[in-house]
Amino acid sequence: MTSEEFLISLEQENAACFERLVQLSAAGEAPESLTIERLLRVALKNELEASEIAAIWMAGTGELHVKLALARQAGDEAKHYRLIEERLNELGVDASAIDPRQGGYSPLFEYLSGLKDTASRVAAGQFTREGIALVRNQCFIDFCEARLDRKTAAMYRDVIQPDERHHHELGRTLLARLVSDPQDQARAREAARRTIQLAEEAQETARLKAGLSRAPGC
Ligand SMILES: [Fe+2]
Ligand SMILES: [Fe+2]
Repeated sequence: MTSEEFLISLEQENAACFERLVQLSAAGEAPESLTIERLLRVALKNELEASEIAAIWMAGTGELHVKLALARQAGDEAKHYRLIEERLNELGVDASAIDPRQGGYSPLFEYLSGLKDTASRVAAGQFTREGIALVRNQCFIDFCEARLDRKTAAMYRDVIQPDERHHHELGRTLLARLVSDPQDQARAREAARRTIQLAEEAQETARLKAGLSRAPGC
């Protein structure tokens, strides 16, 4: 397969999985106890982990263009963290008292931080995880609109989503230069699949343990 053929096939495979994630995320009636504040707390953890992964990878990535893309992403995710924190404060939650590291890092974080090669990192982190963020954020925006929280919806739609889209599209562009041989393609596909699997498991656990669905991504 050429790099472009590989990317198209990975995109199709991811799109099918994202469809399932959207169904899981938007499944059932949202209970009254599911509030925007609770979901924004989950978002803080996702943003922190996304920022930290990008920073860890930046230090250990040789390709200059990928290193710089990761640097931008680390900054963007930290910016999202601060925006969400501000919104929580406006909603009456003292966000300075929240430490998303409580309870430990997620299995997805552990998996991603262990990835060593650039093709796997870009496939898992930017191309796939940011793709998941785009579909999850859209579910969350719909939920905010349904709850008449137009300000949180606008923050996601107008500020956060364009950044996540940039991360995802940049991931595609970068990946095109990293998957010319079959071994890199196999590694990239495996990393994308595992990322989706861990994201699905996390979503299912959150739903069963805390009734949390419709949480945004990173
Ligand atoms: Fe992101
Ligand atoms: Fe983000």
